[in-house]
Order: sequence, then C-alpha cells, then structure tokens
Amino acid sequence: MYRMGQEEVDAVARVVKSGELFRIASKNHEVDNFEKELSEKIGVDYALFLTGGTTALMTGLMGLGIGPGDEVIVPAYTFMASALAVTAVGAIPVIADCDETLGLDPVDVERKISPHTKAIMPVHMIGFPCDMDGIMDVAKKHGLKVIEDSCQAVGGSYKGKTLGTIGHAGAYSFNYFKIISCGEGGALLTNDRDVFEVAVYQHDGGSAFRDDYAELNRGMFEDKDTNSLYPIYDKYKTPVFAGIQCRQSEINGAFMRVQLGRLDGILADLRRIKKQIVEGLSNVSKLQLLKSNDPDGDCGTHIGFTFQEEEKARQFASSEGVNGGLPIDSGRHIFTNWVPITNKRGAYHHLMNPFEMPQNEGLNANYGNDVCSLTLDHLKRTVVIAINPDWSEEEVQNKINSIALAAGNL
Ligand SMILES: Cc1ncc(COP(=O)(O)O)c(C=O)c1O
Repeated sequence: MYRMGQEEVDAVARVVKSGELFRIASKNHEVDNFEKELSEKIGVDYALFLTGGTTALMTGLMGLGIGPGDEVIVPAYTFMASALAVTAVGAIPVIADCDETLGLDPVDVERKISPHTKAIMPVHMIGFPCDMDGIMDVAKKHGLKVIEDSCQAVGGSYKGKTLGTIGHAGAYSFNYFKIISCGEGGALLTNDRDVFEVAVYQHDGGSAFRDDYAELNRGMFEDKDTNSLYPIYDKYKTPVFAGIQCRQSEINGAFMRVQLGRLDGILADLRRIKKQIVEGLSNVSKLQLLKSNDPDGDCGTHIGFTFQEEEKARQFASSEGVNGGLPIDSGRHIFTNWVPITNKRGAYHHLMNPFEMPQNEGLNANYGNDVCSLTLDHLKRTVVIAINPDWSEEEVQNKINSIALAAGNL
C-alpha cells in the first residue's frame, strides 16, 4: 500500500455513521458500487470483491470448472498462494519455468501440458507483465483456460489490455503489501457470466437463497436498485451448490472506492520515477535492465537488473543506497519453499488432500528442486529494487547515483 489519508477516514466514518456494515441489503451499496467502479475502470464485465487474492483465485478456478483430476500450470516464481488456490479446489499444481522477464515461460508451459491439463495461471510478479500473447496462444492451441494472477500488478497492462482481464478470469489482491489496499481484500475479474455465478455462490453460501427471498419479499427491500450486480436482483443459470463465506464488508467497500480513485496517480508516479531512473542510467554500460514484455504496461513498483553471475548480483544489491534484493531470497515466492505443496499436504483432511485423491493418481506432482532449475538461475542473477511513488526529485537522483556507483564498482 502506498497512499492512505483523510479520504479513507471519511469513507469509513460514513459507513460507521450509517450503521450499514453488511453488503447484503445495504442502503449505501458500498461493495456493489466498488465492484461497479472497478469493473468499469479496468474494462471487465464482472468484478467480485472478496476477502483476498487467494479467494479470488479459488473462486475463479471453481468458476472455470477446475477440480480433482485436473492439472493447473503455475510458475516456479510466485507467492505460494497461487499454488495453494489450485490444491484448495482439489486440483494439482504443475510447476513451469519463468523466463528472463520473471514471468511464466510459454515454451515451458507447452512442454508441461498433459492430457490432464485444464488451465494455465500466469502470475504478473512485482508488477511485471507476463508474455500474455505467448500464453494465450498456447492456451488456445490446447483448449485450456487462463486465470491471471494479477495480485501484484493491479492496474498494470499488456499491449493496452489490463492485466487480469486478458485470460478467462483474473485475480487482484488488496492486502497490505499491494498497490492499493484495505488491509485484506481481493477481487475476481471475469467476462464470463458462468464463472461469475459460480464465484457468487462460493463467496456467499446464502446468496442463492437470498434470490428467492428477494423474489418472495420484494417489499422488504425499499431500495430496489436493479443495476446492482448482486444476485438478489438477478436471475442465475447456475444450480446452487454449497458455498462458503468470503464476501466483503461495507467498510472495506467504502475504503477501496477511495483507494481505486488513487490508483491512476500512484501508477503514474511509479512509472514516471522508473522511467527517470532508467534514463538516468542509460550511460552506465555495466547494467543490463531486466527484459520486459511491456515496459509501458509494467506497474513501475520495481526496477530489475540482470547479471551474469550471482556473486555480482549480490555485490550490487548490497551496495550502499541501492537497497536491492535477489528474488531467489524471497522465501515462499520460490517453488522450492512451498512447504505444503512440496510435502504434498494439500488439505487438513487426508480424504480432501488432492495429492491422495484417486482422481489425481498419475498426475504430474513433481516438486523436486530440479523441475525448474532455469527459473532458480534467473532468480539468482536478478536484482530488483522497490520504487516508492512519493520519492522526491532528490531521492530519485540519489537512487540513480547509488545504482550508477554500485555498477561502476562491479
Ligand atoms: C502473486 C500472489 N498471488 C496471490 C496472493 C494472495 O493474495 P491474498 O494475500 O490477498 O490472499 C498474493 C499475496 O501476497 C500474491 O502476491
């Protein structure tokens, strides 16, 4: 999260004063309105505001019909929640390499496809867009679904299309470490009505019954807002199933409406500063900028550099004023550290553990350190530096100077 102020305080106060904290039948429609504003802003038919990026990925996978017997290809470099969402729906995550952009490599994705593969999950890590043309081509060729994990790339784009809206479903996270935030939150994005309906049932086990309730008791709802995306005002095709509860509160809805209003400004400042740093370093011959699939769509949260050897990367990252990090050191963002997956403990109960399900027997649950050694090599030779959209001109210049000095000393 980069920015927060009086507007958020006022938004929360507005909800508290109204006493309408619950999204269902709220007179203020904070969550409904946030969903509408988000979907309009990023150009997608449906946005569902949820408790997190993980639940957004889970509901998206469910909506795409993924379950036991299915493999979903995930990248070797992503927060483990991407893979945990796959096991949460009873499927098996298959790990594929990332290329030098740190995004999922379409070539390795194609190599990992088996008769069990149902979906591909590209992850736009630290604001860097994946090669979506390559991934969509592979998906189309093999009849697979694509669910984009855009949790770390809210508002980013690839060739003019917003990340999270290019595949069949997408997920945003609004947890505290993300570009815009309400502490904890996420959103499922999709143009597919069927995906949306499944996600609505899953995110609120009572939603289908509220539809009946609303039909029978229209008079109870004084405010009949027929534009609402919420199902009580709409007719669903999907037969009801037992969902759970991962819906959001009106407080977070109001908070996120303010955060959404800040998104363009945050991204503009991040991108401006990144551009300034790139231009400021254009004469530094020893530095190789991390290859990007779309430098303009990149969120600008980080700048990356590629080195020939890990030793040089480490020396550069730890140089004074650089404050860099090697992605290989980012713990649970590397597949070798996804302990529940590598230990094949995919659920609390063994009968619900996808790794023990008879339907998943013979699927590709290979999580040895050698399955994606190319990715590990890239992650060891890359340095990423976080950018702050509120850096002053002086701070930006200091950063450029520190990076240039560190590169000169290599
Ligand atoms: C790439 C990625 N996917 C999924 C998630 C899960 O999001 P949340 O923490 O909102 O459930 C995160 C969050 O850190 C993430 O970085």
